[in-house]
Amino acid sequence: MTATVGREPRREGALPGGAEVEAAPGYGRHLLTMWGLEPTVRHLNHGGFGATPLSVLEEQRSWQRRMEANPPRFFMSELPHLLRVAAAEVASFLGTEPDRLAFVDNATSGASAVLRSLDFGTDDEILTTDHVYNALRNAIRYLASRTGAVLREVAVPLPVRDAGEIVEAIEAGLTQRTRLIVVDHVTSGSATIFPVEAIAALGRERGIPVLIDGAHAPGLVDLDIEAIGADWYVGNCHKWLCAPKGAGFVAVSRAPAAAIHPLAISHAYGQGFTAEFDKTGTRDASAWLAIPAAIRFHAQLGGARLRQRNRALAATIAGSISQMTGMPATCSPALAPAMAALRLPGNLPATREASARVHDMLYDRYGFETAITTAGGALHLRISVQAYNEAGDFEGLAEAALAAGWTAA
Ligand SMILES: Cc1ncc(COP(=O)(O)O)c(C=O)c1O
Repeated sequence: MTATVGREPRREGALPGGAEVEAAPGYGRHLLTMWGLEPTVRHLNHGGFGATPLSVLEEQRSWQRRMEANPPRFFMSELPHLLRVAAAEVASFLGTEPDRLAFVDNATSGASAVLRSLDFGTDDEILTTDHVYNALRNAIRYLASRTGAVLREVAVPLPVRDAGEIVEAIEAGLTQRTRLIVVDHVTSGSATIFPVEAIAALGRERGIPVLIDGAHAPGLVDLDIEAIGADWYVGNCHKWLCAPKGAGFVAVSRAPAAAIHPLAISHAYGQGFTAEFDKTGTRDASAWLAIPAAIRFHAQLGGARLRQRNRALAATIAGSISQMTGMPATCSPALAPAMAALRLPGNLPATREASARVHDMLYDRYGFETAITTAGGALHLRISVQAYNEAGDFEGLAEAALAAGWTAA
């Protein structure tokens, strides 16, 4: 099989653990056995926490076995080099350079490392949108409470019809006091792809640093971090790239607006970006070391072809559910990834309780594992399409969503 897009790995072969993927795999439920996913459930929320194939988990375990065979040797002599080897492969996939990429636990800790490395004064503004992931909103609120800075959240109303609306909303929110722009690459609640290149360009034009939260992006959209041109880009490999949990990263631009430090400062303090992030105390690095195996798995399932197929199927499914139920989508298909968020009926309050009620109803009564998200102050049904999904997985979902929405109201 040949590599599919410019920055994707050239090295493809047998999957770790000995499993092989057909040269031209058909996608669908029969692939569930490559993951350890329960066959009786309809898994429609890959975007939530990803899911790691058994072969990639086996690769992770083999790193753990190596670590435990001689822990002092592993940590003192081997790990520093192994981390940089893995970083080189991951950087190549993500479109950045190894010396500008470091591993963190997840997007949340990557974003917090950036935020807490920056200086803010009273009334300095940190600009984001009302689509921001709530964990990041909280991280900014915490920062604001410690520094006197102000969180400024601009509305990007639903439905989002084109990318220009997003850039305009952000531009209109900039003031003389804006010190940082924080935006999601792919939003969680509204499942919308934001025009991060244009937002980063806007930041450069105005001399305002930009942090992109790409928690969903690797393996979901074609990603070239260098081309985006933001100061900092954080993301997860455990979601759409199917790496083990704990495989986050932070990437810095060639000339980031400020140096950043990990949340835990350790022996390498003052020795530079990668040295500091590579050494944050004793921890299990196996999830990071297994990311290259996940990249190979993704490539063997088709790479860009898989991403396109997932996106096209999600658009088809979302279109037909919307047509059958009248549930509106959050954005136009041009801005939708291999996920779609559709507003539930019943004017449900956007509370955790209401969301849990709808989720549990869809799961308990119908066997659908879905995400019930908040966007524009309303609850939405969010679906995801991964390689192991097929159109049949969504049969009956439209009727079930209507019933659950109205019953929970
Ligand atoms: C946009 C966005 N940012 C951040 C996160 C947080 O990811 P994690 O919990 O892995 O840090 C998520 C998780 O779904 C997300 O969707």
